[in-house]
Amino acid sequence: MSTIKKRKIKIKKKNFTIFLLIILIIVFIISKTTTTLYKTINTKKDTKIKEEIPTEEQDEFSKIKNKIDYYNDKYLSRYKAYQKKNPNLEIEQIIKNVNMNLDKIQYQDIIPAKNLNTEYILVNKYYYLTKDYIPDNLETINNQYALSGMKLVNVAKNAFEEMSKNAAKENLKIIAMSSYRSYDYQVNLWNKYAKQDGEEKADTYSGRAGHSEHQTGLAVDVYNQKENYTNFENTKEFEWMQKHAHEYGFILRFPKGKEQETGYQYESWHYRYVGVEIANYIQEKNITLEEYYATKIKDW
Ligand code: DAL
Ligand code: ZN
Repeated sequence: MSTIKKRKIKIKKKNFTIFLLIILIIVFIISKTTTTLYKTINTKKDTKIKEEIPTEEQDEFSKIKNKIDYYNDKYLSRYKAYQKKNPNLEIEQIIKNVNMNLDKIQYQDIIPAKNLNTEYILVNKYYYLTKDYIPDNLETINNQYALSGMKLVNVAKNAFEEMSKNAAKENLKIIAMSSYRSYDYQVNLWNKYAKQDGEEKADTYSGRAGHSEHQTGLAVDVYNQKENYTNFENTKEFEWMQKHAHEYGFILRFPKGKEQETGYQYESWHYRYVGVEIANYIQEKNITLEEYYATKIKDW
């Protein structure tokens, strides 16, 4: 082969190598760009998916559950349904109201009362006692402080006598006029009121049988022996009770402005024994037994 021919072949080989190199570089660049582009698009897609599907953190109740110790995971669907019906309520209020069963229909969706024979038993329009429930340790209140034959559970009876005795030292009379009432007694009482005022009205001031806390032996209606019990609010005895009842473990059970929580109209004469510790707490926080139960007992 001539030298010229050899040189030409050499040049062609060199050109081909350069050409191949360029092609390789182009392929590399294209593939790199495509991968980066693909990745960017997918990341954007992922973010979008994350934004569209609410995560645990984005759920209002999940966010607050560790901050409110009376939140109950079992009630999540009830909390959400109640919130839908009451969109303007604070989330804490929603949880509290559902824990108090305010999303349920009174006397319809009912639960057997828990903590029987304890001073923090709760009986209301959602929690009931059976016909055969008679509390343990019922004792008759000393007739110096009660109408004849009035009974309370012994701890409540002792506390009541002590309270009336100390009020008497200030010339005040706190007299029990109704205390423990059996299921059957309550049947007749409510029927009488329903006949007199109609069922709807009767329900605002009288418990239906099984739903009156008088059946617990821890509730007592008082008066001062001079005036009708319905006027107890305007007596010195009431003023004294406002200041001192909690020191003996009693609370005003159906306060003014708490009708939604308790289910009853204001009753200045009806007191409930809950023990000194709970009574002090309820007094200090200005809450009802229902609210105490919903936030502290947590046994719904
Ligand atoms: N008066 C109260 C609400 C009762 O009957 O239990
Ligand atoms: Zn009463």
